[in-house]
Amino acid sequence: MEALEIIARKRDRKELSREEIEFFVRGYTQGLIPDYQAAAWLMAVYLNGMTEREIYDLTMAMACSGDVLDLKDAVPFAVDKHSTGGVGDKVSLVVAPLVAACGIPVAKMTGRSLGFSGGTVDKLESIPGYRTDLSPEEFKAQLKRIGIVLTGQSAALVPADQKLYALRDVTATVESIPLIVSSIMSKKLATGSDAILLDVKAGSGAFMKTPEEAEELARALVRLGNQAGRKVVALISDMSQPLGWAVGNALELREAINTLHEGGPADFRDHCIVVAAEMLMLGGAAGDTSAALTMAMETLASGAAWHKFVELVEAQGGDVRYIEDPDLLPRARLVKPVPAPRSGYLAGLDAAETGRAVLELGGGRRKKGDPIDHSVGVIVHYKVGELVQKDTPLFTVYANDRAQMEAATERMLAAHTFSDTPVQRPPLFYRRIT
Ligand code: URA
Repeated sequence: MEALEIIARKRDRKELSREEIEFFVRGYTQGLIPDYQAAAWLMAVYLNGMTEREIYDLTMAMACSGDVLDLKDAVPFAVDKHSTGGVGDKVSLVVAPLVAACGIPVAKMTGRSLGFSGGTVDKLESIPGYRTDLSPEEFKAQLKRIGIVLTGQSAALVPADQKLYALRDVTATVESIPLIVSSIMSKKLATGSDAILLDVKAGSGAFMKTPEEAEELARALVRLGNQAGRKVVALISDMSQPLGWAVGNALELREAINTLHEGGPADFRDHCIVVAAEMLMLGGAAGDTSAALTMAMETLASGAAWHKFVELVEAQGGDVRYIEDPDLLPRARLVKPVPAPRSGYLAGLDAAETGRAVLELGGGRRKKGDPIDHSVGVIVHYKVGELVQKDTPLFTVYANDRAQMEAATERMLAAHTFSDTPVQRPPLFYRRIT
């Protein structure tokens, strides 16, 4: 078999066999197929798609590129969650400890930033020492001991996704249903959870721009999870504006910490409560939505979720002083509050443009392996539907370079649109798919 032949067959819209897919995934993971051939293949998949059978085979080949964990000797039942990617999406930082604090083990492998969308691994790495490369043995031992793991892909766990994910990020091949489904579900299957909650984003700051496109992705994800014998629920949520106020790694971590202390923005907190409630139902901790919502709210209010987060950071080698006193977290040198150019109702706050502004500040990657500046980002002060007063701060830019700060300011000003008449707030969630 030849990589070139497999690329040509996908280019010519042929259906690849399981053997061809396995050959390609194995070859790329082992370094036998170079980046330029993998990039060409990814683009062929992006343009020509895959059948349901090909997506399943690709997912399995990626999941089996490293160890596949059997968690049964660690915990009787584990739940996981995954977001398809968004701007200001720090949900896992709150929801994972919240659900674990309710007694449902959470075993989660999480990703790095992709394009303009942020990644939980990068946010966690704002904490000095926090390890995101746990070995399979460490993963299971920690899950058994404290009921929660938040780690990244590694040479041992889904290495195929680690490589393909980074290559997609820099080859304009992110927004593809077969590639998103295989990337997400390979991680979910390899880490062995019994049930999975998927937060599928729709809007400018998501890879799927409309709730209808997001529903197509959600259905493909749920189908694949069910084929693999997992319980799966997908929520379709809004990503037309950033979630919460903070966008940027350390800034988002601070916002998650505030939320774990019952502060933080209302939209973000409400989003976390709904996602946690779904996970509690999947884990059997609550019989219906109302009981699950109450359990999630009470656990957040009790401080138990915060204590579980501290336990998690400590277990993964992070310096807990940085989360106990978030002023120690990386801080940008330049802080610029930008006044609103006019009064009016906020009609739009483009999530993708906000993500690009943060990318421009150095908070994301332009090419594979780029370092990330954890300190930079943007805090927005108004959400869609709110009444803005001229000259009050509209947003604040956190930068380490003056030219980058000015470029991000211009981009953020253009991302805001206003209306003289009241504007309806977008819903937090559109649909639930089972
Ligand atoms: N999250 C992932 O893990 N992979 C994708 O492709 C998109 C979002």
